[in-house]
Amino acid sequence: MQSRPKEIQAFIDAARILFAVETRSKEARDLAVEIFARLEQPGEFRFETRERFPACDSLDKALEPYSDADDEYGQVAKSIKALEPFIGWSRRMTVANASPNFLEGHANGMICGPGGIEQRRDLQLGFTVMKPDVRYPDHSHPPEETYVLMTAGEFRKDRGPWLSPGIGGGIHNAPNAVHAVRSDDNPFLALWCLKI
Ligand SMILES: [Fe+2]
Repeated sequence: MQSRPKEIQAFIDAARILFAVETRSKEARDLAVEIFARLEQPGEFRFETRERFPACDSLDKALEPYSDADDEYGQVAKSIKALEPFIGWSRRMTVANASPNFLEGHANGMICGPGGIEQRRDLQLGFTVMKPDVRYPDHSHPPEETYVLMTAGEFRKDRGPWLSPGIGGGIHNAPNAVHAVRSDDNPFLALWCLKI
């Protein structure tokens, strides 16, 4: 088994702290505990330059507030920048009830998981970056999921009201629960982890 490169380990260590913050719901924290326990076992590594999408250009602006931060947020930001050329970028191609700028306005970055820098099939750990004023479509997926916001942004569960949990907050999605996110007039970045 390969040992884990230090930039990925630094990202995981800092993300683990952000997902464990006590103000988050118990179900969100319980899910994170299980995911980060699985991450104690490294996967396989793939350091290849990957295709980028237009929304990747919003990464620097989203992470700018953390450029001098020496806390977990700063470490997550620094690790993402160090790993940026190798991140497994993808886009959601189903756009039902998304904003018209959605396709060009979002990118999902896989760090650990299928198609990620750390290839593994038991979980997903990464983030979504969006340009300003983008609404991600209502969607659902079998894996249970939780998010942590690194910027301002709003979430909606089922077809309920839009909520603004603030930086460090987020939502928890039970398997197959319908949810959506949207950015305000600034770039958006939220970490996510899913149990496969
Ligand atoms: Fe989701």
